[in-house]
Amino acid sequence: MRVGVIVTAAGSGARLGAAVPKALVTVGERTLLEHAVARALSVADELVVTAPESHLEHVRTLVNPLVEQSEQRDVETILSVVRGGASRQDSVNAGLAALGDVDLVLVHDAARAFAPMALFRDAVAALESGHGAVIPALPVVDTIKRADAELRVTGTVDRSELWAVQTPQGFRRELLERAHTEGAGTGATDDAALVEALGEPVQLIPGHEDAFKVTTPRDFALAESLMAKGHFDE
Ligand code: CTP
Ligand code: MG
Repeated sequence: MRVGVIVTAAGSGARLGAAVPKALVTVGERTLLEHAVARALSVADELVVTAPESHLEHVRTLVNPLVEQSEQRDVETILSVVRGGASRQDSVNAGLAALGDVDLVLVHDAARAFAPMALFRDAVAALESGHGAVIPALPVVDTIKRADAELRVTGTVDRSELWAVQTPQGFRRELLERAHTEGAGTGATDDAALVEALGEPVQLIPGHEDAFKVTTPRDFALAESLMAKGHFDE
């Protein structure tokens, strides 16, 4: 089955507070976007990158050589760089519209730049085995409380039922398109939520610690120090 990967990179990165959009921040030798794309290319027959309008050309210049040089597979990946929207959901929508002939779609945050190739392969394998929607997840490690507006604890949530989800999230293409059409404007923070809203099943698969999202300066420091130690594999 043909696989399209949408790499979302159109955010500004307000919480990181760098001088450039977050996906263009450098860790080691490469930008977060390049780290993410290099890994996504392990499965992508088509690659769509959503970029900030101000940086469309820059993003094309960064990503195109990676696609051309990709020696990971015997196929030529088709690349599109599209203008992202105001929200992540809008950006994914723009990415979906740019996809050509694919059966499966993975949606991946450039900010999760170090999600290993194995995670991309696992998501595709789970889709090929028949799931319509699959998302990598790790068990929540903190104890989680519920509280009221006055910060009085009203309960402790059973942690064994809670999962922190990551990307790449994988979908049968028509399911993701239907989910985005029906869920337009809902402000969902991930794509699986739109599929859940349709009442369709979503399957968890094991996530990976390296798929953490670079959100704050602290996350960035962690990424830099792990990179300096040679921790990340592709
Ligand atoms: N994203 C996008 N289009 C948007 C907003 C976000 O493509 N309108 C992408 C980001 O580039 C990022 C991913 O979605 O790779 C996850 O979003 P997040 O981590 O929130 O990134 P930002 O929105 O850039 O960061 P912040 O919320 O701190 O501004
Ligand atoms: Mg954001």
